[in-house]
Parts: sequence; structure tokens; C-alpha cells
Amino acid sequence: MSQQSTIFPLKVSDLTVRKRGKTILSKINLTLNQSGFTVVMGPNGSGKTTLLRVMHGLERPRQGSVEWSVSTEDARSRQAFVFQTPVMMRRSVLDNVAYPLILRKQSRAQARQSARHWVETVGLADNLNLDAKMLSGGERQKLAIARGLIESPDVLFLDEPTTNLDGRSIREIEAIIAAANSEGTKVIMTTHDIGQAKRLASEVVFLNRGEICEHRPAADFFDRPESPAAKAYLRGDIVE
Ligand SMILES: Nc1ncnc2c1ncn2[C@@H]1O[C@H](COP(=O)(O)OP(=O)(O)OP(=O)(O)O)[C@@H](O)[C@H]1O
Ligand SMILES: [Mg+2]
Repeated sequence: MSQQSTIFPLKVSDLTVRKRGKTILSKINLTLNQSGFTVVMGPNGSGKTTLLRVMHGLERPRQGSVEWSVSTEDARSRQAFVFQTPVMMRRSVLDNVAYPLILRKQSRAQARQSARHWVETVGLADNLNLDAKMLSGGERQKLAIARGLIESPDVLFLDEPTTNLDGRSIREIEAIIAAANSEGTKVIMTTHDIGQAKRLASEVVFLNRGEICEHRPAADFFDRPESPAAKAYLRGDIVE
């Protein structure tokens, strides 16, 4: 194969996103490497979801650029994105997970075999043949993560994957994501859960009002936040 070993580094340069006259992201400059676990934090409305969507190519920047080390098209095919509320297709759990491989023209038998592995890995083996629309919120997140990982992406984007889940589901999902990351998948994740960010992040990007306030190794960020907004956020103050 002539494929490059990684689509990283990702270089976001002078990125500005506007919607309906409002500036959502402003002059973002950010370089992310293949290694590590990047957590994007910041108050509601600070632009976290938008940043992930632009990096993945779901939204176009008004100004500036998002560049991978390979063409945008190649890069896109090596990324998976798990939405905050994943869409379940009206078919079995197994076929939901197999779907990305079917789209890539793998045989149904091969796709299902691989899907079976991922369904088991994320702990949904008991629900293999269940209509995916019957799954609980936590189970849907696990399915969506399996559906992302089945493509062996270079990067898995996760937008608040554990909001509203109970402790056990959070722990299980964190373990799945951490395992994928330690096997080489870059993870870029948003979360409001400070404890979760401390458990998982190797680096933190902190956004406030559409601007990057900090981009630092996680340990530094949590021990010595520098920006007033991050300090307040970590203290639990209301950041406006
Ligand atoms: N289509 C749109 N039109 C206008 N404004 C939008 C649109 N989509 C998002 N916004 C605004 O952009 C800002 C950033 O939204 P975004 O969803 O990226 O924030 P976030 O940091 O992910 O917030 P949260 O923590 O609530 O998920 C918000 O003020 C939001 O209202
Ligand atoms: Mg969001």
C-alpha cells in the first residue's frame, strides 16, 4: 500500500468560523500530533463541537485552513466521528457496526465477522441481534464507538461521549477509548467532566468564547492553569 503511516500532524491555521453573523471560532492556530489523547474543554457555547466538526470536515471555515499530512480526502477516510447523540439505524446491533465496512465494499460475511469482534470488545455481545433502536443511551455510545473503531481510524473524534450516563457506563466507555488510544488511535474528545479529562487526557485544549486560551500537557494544565477563564472553570466558577 502506498498509504502514509499517519494522517498527522493536523495543522489548523488562522481558523475563523462564523454562523449567521456570529463568530463561533476566532483565529484558531493549533497543531495536533498522532500520539496522545487530546481533550477539548471549555464552557457551553465556547466552540468545542464546532472545532471538532471543522477538523473532521463537516463544516467549512470562513477563513483559515485545516490541513492534514495527506490530502483532505485521504485524511477524511481515516477518521471516525462519534456524535453526542449517535444515530442508530433500524437494523441489528451487529449490522449497525458492520455498516461502515459494507460501505467500503467489504463482503457482508467479512464485515459481520469483524463487527462481531468489535461488538464483543465494547461489551454488547448480549445484544448482537437486537434492533439498535432498542439500546439505552450508554449502549448506543458503545455501539457508535465500535462503529467508529471498526474502520481502524487514525483518529477518533468523540463529542461528549458520556454525558448523562451512569458511573458504570462511563467507566466502561473510558476503558474502551483508553484501550484504542494505547493501541495507536489518536483520540480528540470534548468533555465537561473534569475528572474524566484528568483520567484520560495527555493534553488539553481549553476554549473560551471561540478562542484557544490554553493548549498544554494535561498535568500542567490541571496543576497550573494560566488563563483566568481556565482557572475559574477548574474551580467550578461560572465562566461567562
Ligand atoms: N448553526 C448555527 N447557527 C448559529 N449559531 C450556531 C450554530 N451552531 C452553533 N452555533 C453557536 O456557536 C456557538 C458554539 O457552539 P458549539 O456547539 O461549538 O459549542 P460547545 O462548546 O460545543 O458547547 P456545549 O458545551 O454546549 O456543547 C454557540 O454559541 C452556538 O449557539
Ligand atoms: Mg458541544
